[in-house]
Amino acid sequence: MTIDVDPDWWKTMFDEVYLVTDARSVADDDITKQEIDIFTSLVPMQPHDRILDLCGGHGRHALELCQRGFRECTVLDYSQPLLDIGARGAAGKRYPVQFLQGDARHTTLTSEAFDHVLILGNSLGYIPEPDADLRILQEGRRLLKSRGWLLLDVTDGKAVHAKIAPQAWHEIGDDVVVCRQREVKDGLVCAREMVLSKGQGIIRDRTYCIRLYGADDLAALVARAGFGGVQVHTDMSALNRTEDVGCMNHRLVVVARKP
Ligand SMILES: C[S@@+](CC[C@H](N)C(=O)[O-])C[C@H]1O[C@@H](n2cnc3c(N)ncnc32)[C@H](O)[C@@H]1O
Repeated sequence: MTIDVDPDWWKTMFDEVYLVTDARSVADDDITKQEIDIFTSLVPMQPHDRILDLCGGHGRHALELCQRGFRECTVLDYSQPLLDIGARGAAGKRYPVQFLQGDARHTTLTSEAFDHVLILGNSLGYIPEPDADLRILQEGRRLLKSRGWLLLDVTDGKAVHAKIAPQAWHEIGDDVVVCRQREVKDGLVCAREMVLSKGQGIIRDRTYCIRLYGADDLAALVARAGFGGVQVHTDMSALNRTEDVGCMNHRLVVVARKP
């Protein structure tokens, strides 16, 4: 790899600028609605169920669930800026969503407190330690009640290997241009992202690296974390496949249950 990455990049990258650079996938209400249509078709959710959106960012999925009558949603994320944005959005709509800061590998939440744990929008693969994703899944299992459901939505590593362009750029509104240089190697996609504002100049020049999973590796990891009935659904992305939205075009959606 020629792209050098700070191993702690994920602790500071998810902020207001990320909501601009990734607006096409994470700040589009129609996409979020379609994703919730997909997820609720795969897992039986009842309005009174307790739902944890683990690594839930600014809570877009929890807010949409609330809109549909699910009143027991909790969002946990590492990024305080995203949580603050989510909490303001929830307060504006009077949705009773709880926003909590924490590390998904070891939260302070009570065991067996949730009927569903959702890990959505490609939130695995950021931490370089080899067992980090396993620890997040094991924590999800701890937090679920017996027979509770895990729903996991991550990028399809095989598709990224086959299709991602080494260089890409796109415009957001009239002001911002996002340029990405990418390398895919040894099960990782690494990128340099430069964000230019026509008004302010360079507003971001950073690198990041994400571990990629194929369907079989991901199913094996979920089973290793202690889940049963693991099913992997491919090609369930709500996104338009013809536009390059980085790693987000092709997704694996996993459904599994705590025994
Ligand atoms: C690509 S964003 C997706 C956010 C959200 N699930 C969505 O679909 O909009 C990934 C999120 O995972 C969070 N994250 C990554 N690793 C984490 C960890 N160990 N603990 C808590 N949050 C984490 C990041 O802060 C970020 O908000």
